[in-house]
Amino acid sequence: MDLFEHEARELFEKHGIPVPRGHVATDPAGAGAVAAALSGPVVVKAQVKTGGRGKAGGVRVAHTVDDAEQAADDILGMDIKGHTVQRVLVTEACDIAEEYYVSFLLDRAGRTFLAMASAAGGMDIEEVAATRPEALVRLPVDPLSGVDAAAVAAGFPTDVRAEVAGVVEKLWEVFVAEDCTLVEVNPLARTAAGVVALDGKITLDDNAAFRRTVSFDDIADGDPLEREAQAKGLNYVKLDGDIGVIGNGAGLVMSTLDVVAAAAAEVGARGPANFLDIGGGASARVMADGLSVILGDPRVRSVFVNVFGGITACDAVAAGIVRSLEILGDRAAKPLVVRLDGNNVTEGRRILDEAAHPLVTVVSTMDNAARKAARLAIAEV
Ligand SMILES: Nc1ncnc2c1ncn2[C@@H]1O[C@H](COP(=O)(O)OP(=O)(O)OP(=O)(O)O)[C@@H](O)[C@H]1O
Ligand SMILES: [Mg+2]
Repeated sequence: MDLFEHEARELFEKHGIPVPRGHVATDPAGAGAVAAALSGPVVVKAQVKTGGRGKAGGVRVAHTVDDAEQAADDILGMDIKGHTVQRVLVTEACDIAEEYYVSFLLDRAGRTFLAMASAAGGMDIEEVAATRPEALVRLPVDPLSGVDAAAVAAGFPTDVRAEVAGVVEKLWEVFVAEDCTLVEVNPLARTAAGVVALDGKITLDDNAAFRRTVSFDDIADGDPLEREAQAKGLNYVKLDGDIGVIGNGAGLVMSTLDVVAAAAAEVGARGPANFLDIGGGASARVMADGLSVILGDPRVRSVFVNVFGGITACDAVAAGIVRSLEILGDRAAKPLVVRLDGNNVTEGRRILDEAAHPLVTVVSTMDNAARKAARLAIAEV
């Protein structure tokens, strides 16, 4: 789970990493009150779980309490990459001499943890990584022996190296103690008062949720369909195509996305509209929930249901599809292409044939089903 910046900074504070004073607010008056308490210029920052807030206008300096209220008024409700701003963080503005970058992350490909650091931090770190890779240090970190903070800070200006190394040490402590898969500070700012973490991104390892004593705010500020899917406990990711996809098992759904993308390209459809794995159970309820989310996406023109019967056999899934169309009634108004295979497939197909639902087409292979769904997506209605 990703944390909001204001939650990340609480963990930084807990582990002794310097952060600017500040507080979160949910309305302009609240932001003004925080600014008044801080006295002096402040920075008003959108709290959304996505990057590039500054470039989207979601980070503003305010010199007076009125300015802070105005900035909060402008930023609250703003849409940043599909995330609606519901809160702002108001912190004291710092006089920044230099901006650095430091992060720890789980490097799945390298099967290790990785420390990354650069003395050229700030908003364009992605560009630094792409154009001047030598300016970004990458060091594997052994989970048992920990981080060599001096090595991570080696490329920093000499007079600040020891201080940066101290922060690096504490950030690794956060990473381990709080069970993170990502801890990132950009910028770590050099100011007259020392080095300060002006921004923080933390991803918690959900596998460690059972031993976490503090709970964080898991409100999804993203896409409304993703929110609805999350509330229904569905494994759904919105994409931007026109062909809805439902399958059971993440691997099957991933390969379905590939097949649908290829079929869409052949006929000029846009491609998969989503990832949705309804898992092993595939009950009528879960199928209805999944279909309801997908059909709620105005861009969807057709839906490909791709199911491989395993422990839950095809007949149960077929019955689930039929029952879910009954549950949805008029809300199921887009064509469905169903491909069933695996355990009890004959009985499954029989159930669908017998139901003879006008919106359902049964196709026996994955490639042909994807082609059919793609053609339906571009068909005139
Ligand atoms: N407290 C502060 N005082 C002075 N300047 C700040 C402060 N906080 C942020 N800034 C400036 O604003 C820039 C952008 O802020 P921040 O890093 O928090 O957002 P961002 O990087 O745009 O967001 P994201 O991390 O989502 O991409 C910083 O690089 C820094 O120059
Ligand atoms: Mg940043």
